[in-house]
Amino acid sequence: MGRCDGKVAIITGGASGMGAAGARMLVAEGAEVVIGDIQDELGRSLAAELGESARFVHLDVAQQDQWEAAVAFAVAEFGSLSVLVNNAGIANGALVQQFDMGQWQRAIDINLTGTFLGIRAASDALIASGRGSIINVSSIEGIRGTPWAHAYVATKWAVRGLTKSVAMELAPHNVRVNSVHPGLIKTPMTAGIPDDMIPIPLGRPGQPEEIGHWMVFLASDESSFATGAEYVVDGGTVQGVPHK
Ligand code: NAI
Repeated sequence: MGRCDGKVAIITGGASGMGAAGARMLVAEGAEVVIGDIQDELGRSLAAELGESARFVHLDVAQQDQWEAAVAFAVAEFGSLSVLVNNAGIANGALVQQFDMGQWQRAIDINLTGTFLGIRAASDALIASGRGSIINVSSIEGIRGTPWAHAYVATKWAVRGLTKSVAMELAPHNVRVNSVHPGLIKTPMTAGIPDDMIPIPLGRPGQPEEIGHWMVFLASDESSFATGAEYVVDGGTVQGVPHK
C-alpha cells in the first residue's frame, strides 16, 4: 500500500529540483503523475525513468491554453485529477532602482499568474475527484523580505495569500489548498549560492527530497484536515540563528 495510491497529480516544474524529487516520491507512494515543464528533454527522460505511472506534458505555466491542455491530458491518461502541485518558479533580482520591467513581469507571470492559471484550470477536475489537494510552493521569501529579490518576494507572498483565499472557496468541495515555504534547498536554482551564505540553525541547506516529503504528505489523505495552512520547511532559518 502506498500513501498516495489512487491519486493522480500534475506537478509543474517537475523536470528539475524539488519538482523532480516530488514526482519520484509521489510515484513511489503509488500516485500517477503528469510532469509539466518547459524543459522537454529532462521532463521526458524523468517520465520514462518512472515508467507507466508517469507522463510528461510540455507546460508553460504562464500560458492559459497549455494549462487547459495539460489538465485534459492528465484526465485522459489517468482517468481523473486529484492533486495539483504548483511548483514551477523562477528567481531573479537586482537593486530596486535597476529592477527592469521585463524581470518584474516574468516573475509575476510564472510564479504568480502561473499558479493562478493552474488553480483555475484544474479546479473542476479536482472537485470531481471528490478529494482534491492543491500544493503551492511558495518560499520563506513569502513570509519575510529579502533585498534585490523584489519580484520574487512579492510573488511568493501573493501565492501565500492566493492559497488562503482559494482554500476557503474550495473547502466546501473537499479540495484542500496549502502552501509550502522552503528555505535554502540544493537545486539547480540555488547552485550558485554558497552553503553558508544564509545562516541556517540546522547548519546546512535542505535537499529536494526534504520538500518532496511535504508534497507526499499534502497529496495524501494523511493531511485530510489541513487546508489554508502554510508549512515552513527551512531548517529554522526564519527563526534566526540560536544564541551560542
Ligand atoms: P529548479 O530551477 O531546479 O526547478 C524549477 C523548474 O521550474 C525547472 O524545471 C524549470 O524548467 C521550471 N519552470 C521554469 N519556468 C517555467 C514555466 N514557465 N513553466 C513551467 N515550468 C517552468 O528550482 P527549484 O529550486 O526546484 O524550485 C522549485 C520551486 O521552489 C520554485 O517555485 C522556487 O521558487 C521554490 N523555492 C526554491 C527554493 C530553493 O532554495 N531552491 C527555496 C524556496 C522556494
